[in-house]
Parts: sequence; C-alpha cells; structure tokens
Amino acid sequence: GKVRAPTHIISTISDDRGEEPCYAGVPMSSIVEQGYGVGDVISLLWFKRSLPRYCTHFIEICIMLCADHGPCVSGAHNTIVTARAGKDLVSSLVSGLLTIGPRFGGAIDDAARYFKDAYDRGLTPYEFVESMKKKGIRVPGIGHRIKRGDNRDKRVELLQQFAHTHFPSVKYMEYAVQVETYTLSKANNLVLNVDGAIGSLFLDLLAGSGMFTKQEIDEIVGIGYLNGLFVLARSIGLIGHTFDQKRLKQPLYRHPWEDVLYTKSLTI
Ligand code: ACO
Ligand code: LMR
Repeated sequence: GKVRAPTHIISTISDDRGEEPCYAGVPMSSIVEQGYGVGDVISLLWFKRSLPRYCTHFIEICIMLCADHGPCVSGAHNTIVTARAGKDLVSSLVSGLLTIGPRFGGAIDDAARYFKDAYDRGLTPYEFVESMKKKGIRVPGIGHRIKRGDNRDKRVELLQQFAHTHFPSVKYMEYAVQVETYTLSKANNLVLNVDGAIGSLFLDLLAGSGMFTKQEIDEIVGIGYLNGLFVLARSIGLIGHTFDQKRLKQPLYRHPWEDVLYTKSLTI
C-alpha cells in the first residue's frame, strides 16, 4: 500500500490544491454564489463550520462597530504617529495593533473567561467582583476612559439589542449586566464596555447556537479567539488613519514640551 511521507505542517482550515481554494471544505465559488459575507468567511476559517445567519450577522456587527473609535485612542494614536514618521502602511498598521491588549480592545477573551467561570460557578456579581478585587485583578470588560453610567457606550446598546432580538438565550450577557449594575454602584466609570459586551455575548452565541460542544466552547475560550474580532475590526480603522495622514501630508509628529511634566522628583 501507499506510504504516507511524514509532513512538517498540519493544516485543517483551507486547501488551495484543487481548481479553486476551499475554506473549511467550502469552495470559493459557493461562497460567492451563495452570497456569503465576511461573517461566514470568519465562521469557516476560525470556527471551521458554517454558522446560522444571525451568528454571522452578529460577527459582522462586531466588526463594523469596532472598526474605529476616532483618532485619540491608543491604537489610532500610534498609527498616526508612525504614518507621520514616514513609515509605510504595514508599519503604521502594526504599530497601532501592538497597543491592543488587556487595557485596550484586547480584554474580550479575558472578559469571556471570567464571566463564564463566575456564571458557571454560580457566583453572585458581588462575590465575583469582590473576589477579583481581593486578587488585585481589574474586571475585564468593565470600565472605560470616557464612557459613564450616564453616558453609555452606544456600541454596547446596539449589540445588546441585536442579541435580545435574535439570540435564543442571553444568560451570560445578563450576568455581565448584573456585574455592571454592581460595579456602577461603586464608581460611575465602571460600565460594561464593548469588550465585555462582545465577550459575554459571544459566550451566549457559542452556547445558544447549538453548533458547539461544551468541550469546543472551552477550547475557544481557552485558546482565546475573541480578541481576534477587535484586531480584525480595528485594522480597518487603522488603515484608514494611515491613508488619512498620508493624504493630508502631515509632518513628523513631535509631542509638545508643554504637555510633559519634566521633574526630577521621584515622589510624583
Ligand atoms: N475593575 C475593577 N476596578 C476598576 C476597573 C475594572 N475593570 N477599571 C477601573 N477600575 C478602578 C481602578 O482600580 C481605579 O481605582 P483605584 O485608583 O483605586 O485603583 C478606578 O476604577 C479608576 O480607574 P482608572 O485607572 O482611572 O480608570 P481608567 O479610566 O484609566 O481605566 C480601563 C480604563 C483601562 C478601560 C480600565 O477600566 C480597565 O482596565 N478595564 C478592564 C480592561 C478592559 O475591559 N479594557 C477594555 C476597554 S474597552 C476598549 O478598549 C475598546
Ligand atoms: C475604542 O474602541 O477604541 C475605545 O472604546 C477605547 C477608547 O479609549 O475610547
């Protein structure tokens, strides 16, 4: 019989050897003919399956809502400074992407992990938040620099409205909202932010769609797929900021001295 030569790489998501490339076994022509969108392509390449339309629509809404948040946020700031230093598109893009992490845009996976663990263990919001405080960990998905209890994040509301209408269950999101109610009683800036909304709602999507086993959900949350949504989305805006600076022929950026506190004192 045939002897299979050992390979150095295993790949399970796509195949380019036939007449046309396939994503998770689905040929490119079907993707185009069936009018698939970017949410379907993400489903195939990340989750290796076709998801129901409400799920792929939700993914697309996440991408659209997180595509940009103005020039002042960490990522856009880095991209703008890099573009103005005369660097190319890829350098400007990755300079912005590198700011995505536990404080900015990259709290989605941790939000999903902590909300899931707390909900599944039956912790009350009080027990959850106070246990995080004892461990000295900020609750991922909670808090924002400019959003407040009386100035909520519209993106969060839109995601919640969509899920309320289309998801079979929103138990994790409702738990996150209960956590927010408790954190808001402590400080007005401790709102459920867009990372927390996506993290908790993706748990509802995974659990409620009936398309994933418990083991698969644990794997998705364990590996940390969900920050990918923000990375992908924000790339759209960061590319836009790069073009904007180039179009405007902006000069090298130098931060003004007046905006720096120069001090030798170590007590500040
Ligand atoms: N959990 C518990 N306490 C918090 C949290 C939180 N998530 N966020 C802020 N606090 C507390 C702080 O401990 C601080 O109290 P302290 O000074 O006694 O320690 C107080 O609230 C004020 O905190 P600031 O540092 O002034 O808040 P800031 O506006 O700088 O932080 C940030 C905003 C970074 C988003 C913060 O809330 C945080 O770390 N949240 C968790 C990570 C997260 O979800 N990031 C995603 C944000 S959304 C996005 O980037 C798209
Ligand atoms: C964002 O989406 O970039 C923001 O929520 C972060 C910010 O500081 O506004």
